[in-house]
Amino acid sequence: MSSPDATPHGATEPAPGISAIGDDPWSIPNLTDPYPLFERMRDAGPAVWLEQYGVHAFTRFESMRELLVDHETFISSAGVGPTNLHITPNWRPQGILESDPPRHTPMRTAMTTVIAPRKMRQLRPGFDAYAGELTSALLGAGPLDLVHDVAEEFTLRVFGDAVGIGREGRRENLLSHGAMNFSYFGPDNDLHRQHVEAGAGTPEWVLANCERSVLTPDGMGAQMWELADAGLIPPEQATLLIRAMLSAGLDTTVFAITNTLLLLAQHPEQWAKVHADPSLMKFAIDEALRYESPFTSFFRTTSRDVELDGVQLPAGSKLVVFLGAANRDPRRWGDTADRFDIDRDTGGQLAFGMGIHQCVGQPISRQESQALLEELARRVESIELTSEPTLYLHNTLRSWSSVPARLTAA
Ligand code: HEM
Repeated sequence: MSSPDATPHGATEPAPGISAIGDDPWSIPNLTDPYPLFERMRDAGPAVWLEQYGVHAFTRFESMRELLVDHETFISSAGVGPTNLHITPNWRPQGILESDPPRHTPMRTAMTTVIAPRKMRQLRPGFDAYAGELTSALLGAGPLDLVHDVAEEFTLRVFGDAVGIGREGRRENLLSHGAMNFSYFGPDNDLHRQHVEAGAGTPEWVLANCERSVLTPDGMGAQMWELADAGLIPPEQATLLIRAMLSAGLDTTVFAITNTLLLLAQHPEQWAKVHADPSLMKFAIDEALRYESPFTSFFRTTSRDVELDGVQLPAGSKLVVFLGAANRDPRRWGDTADRFDIDRDTGGQLAFGMGIHQCVGQPISRQESQALLEELARRVESIELTSEPTLYLHNTLRSWSSVPARLTAA
């Protein structure tokens, strides 16, 4: 079947042998605790057909890995949300995440040039200094919120400074801007509309702050403009790429830090390990990324008829991958998949994706989380949760919006 514009519209029913389920992975109960449904979806077969949405969903580790590395078949330019952007144009110009080669290639090269691991290591002393300052303030402060006072406070400061944007207005704009953008990668439901409403006005603030004239001369933003001067990317793409850093880089890192701290607070014996040897923190961060993956689902579209793990998909089919489910798949992680264990080998975990779109911001995100969490591991004897954490409800992101706690100095 093809549409008048010759764009195939893909699967309209479950592939042969694939079960249809009526469950909604984006309902509030399933977002609150997605893991029982993820288990049923994984056990139902290599994919399930989500009746409410008319798409196949992939939840097993191996097939997801295979799917993500095959960017020619499972494309991103038709959008990484449920809307097929080859049929319905996007609400804003498509950036690096929603592109395929050859358009993707220079954008990716520009990003990897600016966020090169070597350059990010040079930012580390500045991150360490602020981690020290913040930890001193936190230890003198009494009860606090691990989200607002720790993860957000640190990331807004060091990431915003690394990009080179002004300090005023960051908290009011950047978090809700990121949340709104990520929300478009999930379905159009009440929760999505709440995040869009909360993000109203923030795109204008972000675009104004990507302007060359307002960026600090040595930040990642200014370096992106230099690549445009050198002809690697057209000038209009410099704005898009700085915007991509600000959209994709803030909330995700805040959530990675929050999730790691909460899990370590809930497992005091594992906090004792990182306190005794803070160099173990990088393993704790990776295990937290596996166990509670911050960016939990997104879509692809098939560019041709294909069979993946026995699932036959016609060209033009939207499908959704749940990274959070693959990262708990016992077929990959064994019987202890549902256990948080910082001694586990997390090699290959999918929280940063896989293939040509694999997170380009990893080097800075890792330097930020390690700087803060290693400092806390050194100087905090224990973390006591003082009341129930509040879950952060979002269609594609998983974390907590408040984690009240008390830190005891070492
Ligand atoms: C722990 C924190 C982070 C997580 C869990 C995360 C997760 C991801 C994932 C899963 C993807 C792949 C999406 C896909 O395949 O469609 C991705 C791509 C991307 N991330 Fe991150 N991310 C994090 C931090 C960051 C940071 C700090 C930045 C910015 C500096 C960033 C910028 C990007 C960009 C620009 C892409 C698109 C890359 C491409 O399409 O080539 N991310 N991220």
